[in-house]
Formats: sequence, structure tokens, C-alpha cells
Amino acid sequence: MTQNVVLETINLTKRYAGTRGHPGRLALNRLSLTVQRGEIFGYLGPNGAGKTTTIRLMLDLIRPTEGSVRIFGLDAHRDAVSIKRMVGNLPSEVRLWDHLTGLQVLRYLCRLRPGCDFRYALELAERLNLNLNVSVRNYSTGNKRKLGIIQALMHKPQLLIFDEPTMGLDPLVSHTFNQLIREVRDEGRTVFLSSHVLSEVEQVCDRVAVLRDGTLQAVERISDLKNVLYRWVTLVTRAPLEPREFMALPGVNDAQRIDKGIRICVTGSLDPVIKLAARYPIDDLSVEQPTLEDFFMTFYGQTTHD
Ligand SMILES: Nc1ncnc2c1ncn2[C@@H]1O[C@H](COP(=O)(O)OP(=O)(O)OP(=O)(O)O)[C@@H](O)[C@H]1O
Ligand SMILES: [Mg+2]
Repeated sequence: MTQNVVLETINLTKRYAGTRGHPGRLALNRLSLTVQRGEIFGYLGPNGAGKTTTIRLMLDLIRPTEGSVRIFGLDAHRDAVSIKRMVGNLPSEVRLWDHLTGLQVLRYLCRLRPGCDFRYALELAERLNLNLNVSVRNYSTGNKRKLGIIQALMHKPQLLIFDEPTMGLDPLVSHTFNQLIREVRDEGRTVFLSSHVLSEVEQVCDRVAVLRDGTLQAVERISDLKNVLYRWVTLVTRAPLEPREFMALPGVNDAQRIDKGIRICVTGSLDPVIKLAARYPIDDLSVEQPTLEDFFMTFYGQTTHD
């Protein structure tokens, strides 16, 4: 293992116990992943894919059926105490002391954590627009999540593990969250976050892994994906364009006649399509890039059954 590997799962498998003769559910199936120092790693999957299970295994809250997790080269279970100091985490459901105010919760947790700078905690609350003088009981779901984010970040841990951090946050706050974790990355620290919304993580993640039914489907670098993405070119024209003519061009994967023109799917350069289109009277032209969601559906969607 190189020094730059911060988080590693090796054949990580979790089967939850069954009841009355039922074999139980295989929630995670031989997951092997590595996360490098200084990256923001997105962990994507639909509901029930096994994201929370993976994170709970990483945090040693549950024990694997098979396989193991290594964090900073240490074993997640055997060395749990040493690891705890270096990791900040946000669970999928934030449970904090209801009767305390946000300020009291942060002050208490800050005292427990070596390296915690309370001024940074206050700065985070201000940036996330969270009023700390309210008891946790009276916080909305989004505000509880904000408090959870602050407590994960405030002692500046080397690794942050977030389970669906932006779920329930409004777009402005999500944007601030993205900025905060970019700052974490720029300091050479590492972020692992789960989400079920690809469009959310594509803005901030360096790499993404896609999980379905407990099985890893793909691990991709976002910048690589953007280079191989196809685009849809729509030409609005009264001329009777022939799909077959476009299909013969390099990079064209598909061409369909539509109501007032033609729609062409292109990978790579648009030049051949534009040159051919220029021979005809074109009223309008639009180019759409698929979201990464569409991309993953195209390449991995058929292999699954959700
Ligand atoms: N404690 C448990 N006992 C039995 N089965 C469980 C338990 N926790 C989770 N599961 C099952 O394991 C599978 C994976 O669940 P998990 O919570 O890890 O998914 P997830 O990807 O986090 O989903 P979501 O997006 O809804 O949060 C699901 O089928 C779930 O029903
Ligand atoms: Mg979950």
C-alpha cells in the first residue's frame, strides 16, 4: 500500500442476519476500493444500494461478514481508537442531545476532541447560516444536518466521511458545503461522501464510485468522464435530412428524424456533423451534454435491476 492511500476496503462484505430460516440480506458484496490522500471521493448509489452499510463498516459501527477496512494503514476494528482521532464523520441520521443548544453541543464535543478550534466551529456556523442559540430539539432537519457537518469538520480531521451530507439542505447551503470540502481538499485532507444524486457530486468530486445492490459497478475520474461523454446535436431545418447520411460520419452513434429536423448523438469532435449540416438551410442548432446520471445509466444501467 502506498503512503497516499488514506482509505482502503478489501473484499468488504456484509450480510445482515436473517430471521427464522431466512438467509439474511447481502448488503455489500466484496467491495474493494481505495481513496487517495487529498481527493474528494463520491460514493453513489440508489436507495438500499449499501452506502450507509459501507460507511458504518468504515467507522467500525458494525462488523463485516468478510473482508476489512484500512484507514491510514491501520485496521478499522483493531485500531479503532487511534483512527477515531483522525476521522470526522456525519452519520445519515444526526442524533445529538435534544435538550442542549447548538452552541452547547459544539462546545461539549470540541472539548472532547484534540485539535478542536472553537473559533473555527463558530466560523462554520456562520458560513452555514446556523443559529447556535436554539435547542437541538427545535432545529429543523436541515439545521440538524448543519450542526452535524460542523461537528464533523471542527477539529480539522485528516479524513472526513459523510453519509448524504447535502440531503435536505437548500441549494445555497449545499453550495457552501461544497466550498468547505474543497478547502479541506486544498489542505491535503481527504473527503469520502455518499449521495444518491450524481448531478450533486459531479460538481465537487474528483472521483466517483457507483454502487448498486451491494456491488461496485464503476469507479471513474470525473474529468475523464467529461472527455468521453457523448452529446446530442439537434438541427432544426425544413430540409429533408437523411439520418443515414449522418450515421456514416465518424463519431456519430445515432441519428433520428424528429418533428422539425434531426437529432444526432455524437462522441468526440462535432466537426464532421457541422460540415455536413452546413450544406443545408439550418434554422436552429442546439447541443446538449448528458448529465453524468444519463451517462451512468447508458453504460451501467442495463446491468442492474432496481
Ligand atoms: N440493520 C439492518 N438489518 C438488516 N438489513 C439491513 C440493515 N441495514 C440495512 N439493511 C439492508 O441492507 C441494504 C443496504 O442498506 P443501506 O442502508 O446500506 O443502503 P443505502 O445505500 O445507504 O440506502 P439509502 O440511499 O436509502 O440511504 C438494504 O437492503 C437494507 O434494507
Ligand atoms: Mg443510507
